[in-house]
Amino acid sequence: MKIAVLKETEQGETRVAATPETVRKFIALGADVAVERGAGTGAAIADDDYVAAGATIDAREAVLKAADIVLCVRGPDPAELAAAADGAWLVGALDPIAQRARIEGYASAGVEALAMEWMPRITRAQSMDILSSQANLAGYKAVIEAASAYGRAFPMMMTAAGTVSAAKVFVMGVGVAGLQAIATARRLGGQVSATDVRAATKEQIKSLGAKPIFVETVEGIEGEGSGGYATEMSDEYKAAQAELVSSHIARQDIVITTALIPGRAAPRLISDAQIATMREGSVIVDLAAEAGGNVEGAVAGENVVKHGVTIIGARNMAASMSPDTSALFARNLYNFLSAYWDAEAGRPVLPDDDEVTQGVRLTKGGAIVSARLRDTA
Ligand code: NAI
Repeated sequence: MKIAVLKETEQGETRVAATPETVRKFIALGADVAVERGAGTGAAIADDDYVAAGATIDAREAVLKAADIVLCVRGPDPAELAAAADGAWLVGALDPIAQRARIEGYASAGVEALAMEWMPRITRAQSMDILSSQANLAGYKAVIEAASAYGRAFPMMMTAAGTVSAAKVFVMGVGVAGLQAIATARRLGGQVSATDVRAATKEQIKSLGAKPIFVETVEGIEGEGSGGYATEMSDEYKAAQAELVSSHIARQDIVITTALIPGRAAPRLISDAQIATMREGSVIVDLAAEAGGNVEGAVAGENVVKHGVTIIGARNMAASMSPDTSALFARNLYNFLSAYWDAEAGRPVLPDDDEVTQGVRLTKGGAIVSARLRDTA
């Protein structure tokens, strides 16, 4: 049973889908692991480290040849998988909706494509959840980027020459990334407040020592849909939220936005007019910039200055911490494949009626089998 580990080809993608730690564990399960030369370079892992873990290092074609399982961060060109074994698995962040043509290509190539970002949010799959592991570090990095772009100090400092006041930090969207952003901003000494549409986050915000800012005037809001995700809010709620945010935002120095709604464009939370009310030198980090943006004027991968406010449009924040994010990503993949390992077959076996299988499996036997992907045609 051969596992192939690819070097990422997309520009700026520095992560890698396996580390020496996970290579060693796959080998302990009985697999052979072939790693493409230089696969770990962007994540500070040398080829020799993979060799020491028991892998072989080779060129891309040789690594892919007769591979039973191909591990990647982002999906490769389907044509490259022709050399893999019949029915080979491709496991990674395959971005099913945006990369639909590619997914169809995997089906035609007879590949079984498994999209890790569609892992269901159930307790037993928590350790396999790439969205959580990567968002966690992105939330941390968003605050670090904001602190770096902000020309003032984060903590309150009392010096002989006078007092420097604490930065006021507002986190919008308190999922995995938002919670880590709150914790990081608190550690740096910021004065932190946060908001979300899911009422359940109010206690979580308080438990991290931050102040919850919530719409209290619109009745019956829970904001939570299936899988713990947010739902689209009513127009009445949106208007109340905009008003609340307007008065609060004018007094903030740093705003971190992380709001996402699965399958839809990110909700617009901050308008240009609201940015204009912020103090010169303030910083906004839009972690949802790649999903359409929470902030008007944010551009993914760019820093834009509007009304004296720097708007950082995040793009693949996870890639800027690739040694750590790769370690977590690689463990997510290992935890998934090892949980389904069939010792007799010497490989993982995914039962058709399993919730995890139904979540992540996009293609099999030459066709698209994911109901979710078919529904979004
Ligand atoms: P996400 O990345 O989809 O969204 C980020 C946050 O934005 C969410 O908290 C969402 O409620 C919020 N949001 C959406 N629209 C908003 C708006 N208009 N205004 C303000 N906030 C808005 O969410 P994420 O981080 O992936 O987590 C969502 C939930 O899933 C959490 O409750 C988390 O604990 C749960 N979860 C469960 C897992 C499991 O059981 N395996 C794994 C990971 C997360």
